[in-house]
Amino acid sequence: MCGIVGYTGNRPALPFLLNGLRTLEYRGYDSAGVELEDASGELLEVKCRGRVAALAGLCEGLDAHQTIGIAHTRWATHGEPSDANAHPHRDCSGRVAVVHNGIIENYQELAAELAERGHSFKSETDTEVIAHLVEEELAGAAEGDLALALSLAASRLTGSWAIACVSADAPGEILCARKGSPLVLASTADGAYAASDVTALAHVTSHVINLDEGGIARLLPSGEIRVFESDLTPVAEPGTFDIDWNASAATLGGYPDFMAKEIAEQPEAIERLLEGRLGDSGIVLDELSLTPEEIAAIDRIYIVACGTSWHVGLIARAYFERWAGVPTTVECASEFNYEEVLTTDHTLCVIITQSGETADTLASARKMRAVGAKVIAITNVLGSTAARESDGVIYVQAGPEIAVASTKAYTAQLVASALLALFLARANDSISLKEVRARYREMLRVPELIRIVLSRAWQDEVAARAFVDAGSSLFLGRGLSSTTAREGALKLKEISYLHAEAYPAGEMKHGPIALVEQGYPVVVVVPESPVRDKTISNLQEVNARGACVIALATNGDVRVAQLADYLLLVPPAPEWLSPVVDVVHLQLLARYVALARGCDVDKPRNLAKSVTVE
Ligand code: G6P
Repeated sequence: MCGIVGYTGNRPALPFLLNGLRTLEYRGYDSAGVELEDASGELLEVKCRGRVAALAGLCEGLDAHQTIGIAHTRWATHGEPSDANAHPHRDCSGRVAVVHNGIIENYQELAAELAERGHSFKSETDTEVIAHLVEEELAGAAEGDLALALSLAASRLTGSWAIACVSADAPGEILCARKGSPLVLASTADGAYAASDVTALAHVTSHVINLDEGGIARLLPSGEIRVFESDLTPVAEPGTFDIDWNASAATLGGYPDFMAKEIAEQPEAIERLLEGRLGDSGIVLDELSLTPEEIAAIDRIYIVACGTSWHVGLIARAYFERWAGVPTTVECASEFNYEEVLTTDHTLCVIITQSGETADTLASARKMRAVGAKVIAITNVLGSTAARESDGVIYVQAGPEIAVASTKAYTAQLVASALLALFLARANDSISLKEVRARYREMLRVPELIRIVLSRAWQDEVAARAFVDAGSSLFLGRGLSSTTAREGALKLKEISYLHAEAYPAGEMKHGPIALVEQGYPVVVVVPESPVRDKTISNLQEVNARGACVIALATNGDVRVAQLADYLLLVPPAPEWLSPVVDVVHLQLLARYVALARGCDVDKPRNLAKSVTVE
């Protein structure tokens, strides 16, 4: 949801800025821009509608000797994607430039106020008011002090922001401010860096400074970074963390696209997550800072998440209820934030968020902490806001996920949820140590089961033919497989732009069956499970109406094979683990359909990987 980068130092800034934007492009890619500043403070701006590649094209042949710059890749919120609305945005004098990720909620009243005082606006964005506010403060109370000007300007804003700002009045400096949107910094011998997330910094450092909520940072060409609270009180020891993967983890490494790479990485990701997780007394989750008494007392669980992570929650509910016996509610964060919650004295909120930065999910966690609930985050991103603001965190260790459509983070989050559920179940004495060991052993087999599915990618490539010319499709499943069907439909919609409706198979006859006609593609997720026979009945119902049936079934399931037009076979797996294995076929299927329809699988239109606005 918009990516920003900044650099001030002793090297030309443009190569880092363009590279940084390329790695952050998954956050948004409808326009991009860069502002370069030379030693005398002269500013040079290049920006355009379109992807970072278009911006890089415009920058070719530029005399880009400047060693200071800020840059932005945009996911439009206010104002259509256009050259004028692309960041950076400048003030009236052209001496201040800002890039911004977030939403300024009071921008209309600020813009009206500024217009009354004679400011003129060149864009339809909420961001531009920041540049004009900084301009006023520089000329007024701040008397040319850019840090003070940004701090005063930020105090006028409501909403969320990560801002990087340069001004001809403060040559060499980049000022950053953050509230509600992520921003990380790095200080090196070559200079000082800022970025929306660590993927843009991994090739320059492994040691990163986290700008805290409300913080201001001053980046100097020497590499020095001074961090302040919002009122410019210096922060003596800003929070830092180490990046535990190298920059190559965020490159294609021979794969045609990141989605292909991340689908293939799932077995190793799960192996990493499971390593060392079984101890003498059960599951080892040392990273939770709750006491054993607090864990054992949990009597109600809210799982809150968005998108694919919400689907993880739908499955995790079964784990928490079956093993730990704790009533569990699963909510979409964007809805949950406006609902009443019924907490007990021992309520646990589990937030599931790959990025750790989804604004709605973070708001839910804050809401739950405010009413006294403990919050545990399941996330993939080290040092993310979700991790820092929770009482405990489980890092799924899937490595950077770059493709917008989540794959390896989904399966790793499922396994992490199972670990947490077993941990709770043991703590409240709902299951025996023997059973925990048995479940853990089953999990250890998952990487191998996924490898088998990966070796059958050809089945998905063949089945993709059923969708290429379709206008819509239906995904069905029962029990846990109804969520796998949802996730499969979401993947397909996201990257192939083909409408896909997911429905519990048994409910289908109450409406969606009306969609079915000759050749209409229906994916039926029907692995071996207690509801297999019931699901086969539903499969027969769509079959009888001429559907083209793509059935996901267990090896050797002759009955399903006889009814299906295309088969996606999975090896036998325990029912509770089938969502982790089965979904891999549906990820592959979505990718092949998207490729066949000529879509960019890594950067689907209108989407962003990290949604940092509510
Ligand atoms: C966006 C992404 C989805 C993701 C969702 C939640 O919509 O496109 O792939 O599932 O955000 O993201 P989170 O980082 O909180 O898991």
